[in-house]
Amino acid sequence: MQKKIMKLVLICVAIIYFLNSSDGARILGIFPLTTYSHFILGHTLMKELASRGHEVTVMSPYPQKTPIENYKDIDLSEMLRKHEENRKNVFDIINVPPAVSILFLHHWIINGTSECLKMDVVQDFLKSDQKFDLVIVEEFVLYAFMGFCHKYNTPCVTFSATGLSLLTSNQVGNPISPSYVPNIALPYLSHMNFFQRLFNSLMYVFCELVTHLYALPQHNKILQEYFPGAPHITELYYNVSLTLINSHVSTHHPVPLVPNMIDVGGLHIKPPKKLPKDLQEYLDNAKEGVIFFSMGSNVRSMDMPVEKREIFLKTFGQLKQKVLWKWEDEKLSGKPSNVKISKWLPQTDVLAHPNIKLFITHGGLLSTTEAVYHGVPIVGIPLYGDQVMNLANAENNGIGRGLPYSELTEDKLSDLIQEVLTNPKYADNAKRRSSIMRDQPMTALERGVFWVEYALRHKGAPHLRSAALNLAWYQYLLLDVIVFVIAALFMTFLTLRFVIRKCMGSKKKSSKVSEDKKRN
Ligand SMILES: *[C@@H]1O[C@H](CO)[C@@H](O)[C@H](O)[C@H]1NC(C)=O
Ligand SMILES: *[C@@H]1O[C@H](CO)[C@@H](O)[C@H](O)[C@H]1NC(C)=O
Repeated sequence: MQKKIMKLVLICVAIIYFLNSSDGARILGIFPLTTYSHFILGHTLMKELASRGHEVTVMSPYPQKTPIENYKDIDLSEMLRKHEENRKNVFDIINVPPAVSILFLHHWIINGTSECLKMDVVQDFLKSDQKFDLVIVEEFVLYAFMGFCHKYNTPCVTFSATGLSLLTSNQVGNPISPSYVPNIALPYLSHMNFFQRLFNSLMYVFCELVTHLYALPQHNKILQEYFPGAPHITELYYNVSLTLINSHVSTHHPVPLVPNMIDVGGLHIKPPKKLPKDLQEYLDNAKEGVIFFSMGSNVRSMDMPVEKREIFLKTFGQLKQKVLWKWEDEKLSGKPSNVKISKWLPQTDVLAHPNIKLFITHGGLLSTTEAVYHGVPIVGIPLYGDQVMNLANAENNGIGRGLPYSELTEDKLSDLIQEVLTNPKYADNAKRRSSIMRDQPMTALERGVFWVEYALRHKGAPHLRSAALNLAWYQYLLLDVIVFVIAALFMTFLTLRFVIRKCMGSKKKSSKVSEDKKRN
């Protein structure tokens, strides 16, 4: 009898222990940018972690309106207000040279980082001394925010809203060669000609110099100010457990990835929801199909200069298809009858509708990924940042065509639209790319969650860390070996020359001596 009771007690203890150990972890997610598309990625991951029983806290300018279980906000919406005050019309800053845009990005982030950390909500949060088991920081040169990983002494996971880049690669020692991986600010493909490779390599060196001579020292200042006692920023910079990147072979070139770098492109795409009734009817009834035009969440097409807007209106007016335009105002003067405007549209759900024949986009990574997922061909009008490259990839994959904003004319736009609508290869390639994206052992979201939990289970998973991180940069680039080999070759050459001269000299001497002897 006693034995039975003991057994029962043991089983209960085991069950309680098991329940406790499968308890959720406390995860802090930091997504401070006032760029909604970046937030969406982080939010999707954090929400999924919350639904799996983790206690998540999300620091972002976009707090949830309706509470989500296990999901807490640290409200940075003040950042959004400041951003609106200083908002630049993106249509005015197009055509900035890539190197300048890199500097501009760093400057913007450094300013925003200290503006954010000094906010009362953040200061109160830091003082509240909560405990966390893991911190996820958005990777967008937001280095000083890694101070949170140090403060809570947790593994650091970074999440990049862009695809593979120098920025994401260096921190985890991922091999990335300028010979076939174009800088994300450049419109190149993996196969570059000589001058493109030259310029790409120079861009790499420039970005490295900017990171190490400008960005990291500035972030170190911020880090020391807001996280007293933190080590130098470079120690945190190279101490990332895991990097999630927003790419996939269906949209990007295949490239090597170290084991703690995980492709989660398409993570934000949910199964299509039911459309609002009027929109559903509108799309269902479009016999000739519908062209969907949206410049994404960050760019407002109503900011577009009037003459460019006219180009769209005139071109659309001549189409037999209907056009659905994400237009952020109540009215659009001169709107042709086949054009329907709407301030907000559920983009993925619209793209999922079979009557959507073409997507006209600015080429943001979330938009192009969604188009690929739903197999919709695209005409892209890139404005800035990685959009040019995303559309170059799309052209390379044969799923659409790009037209630089500065070259936009009625004729060119009209030609491209007709080309992509009438040549079946674009739709076929889009379908093929879609099937590649969907053919995976687990969804991108499941993969992201798996690896975050993996980092938790293995205390930051130091066994995944690339051995390259233990080398100095000149050792990694084998510069010491190259210098040694060149020096050795040079020494050998000098020695040989010396020996040969010596031999020739003594031969000459001896032959001269014998000649002299003969004469005598
Ligand atoms: C950030 O930029 C704004 C606007 O240019 C400026 O007013 C503010 O002082 C800057 N903040 C920091 C911390 O540099
Ligand atoms: C590096 O990360 C590990 C956890 O992944 C942590 O234990 C360690 O303290 C970190 N090192 C520094 C210098 O922050």
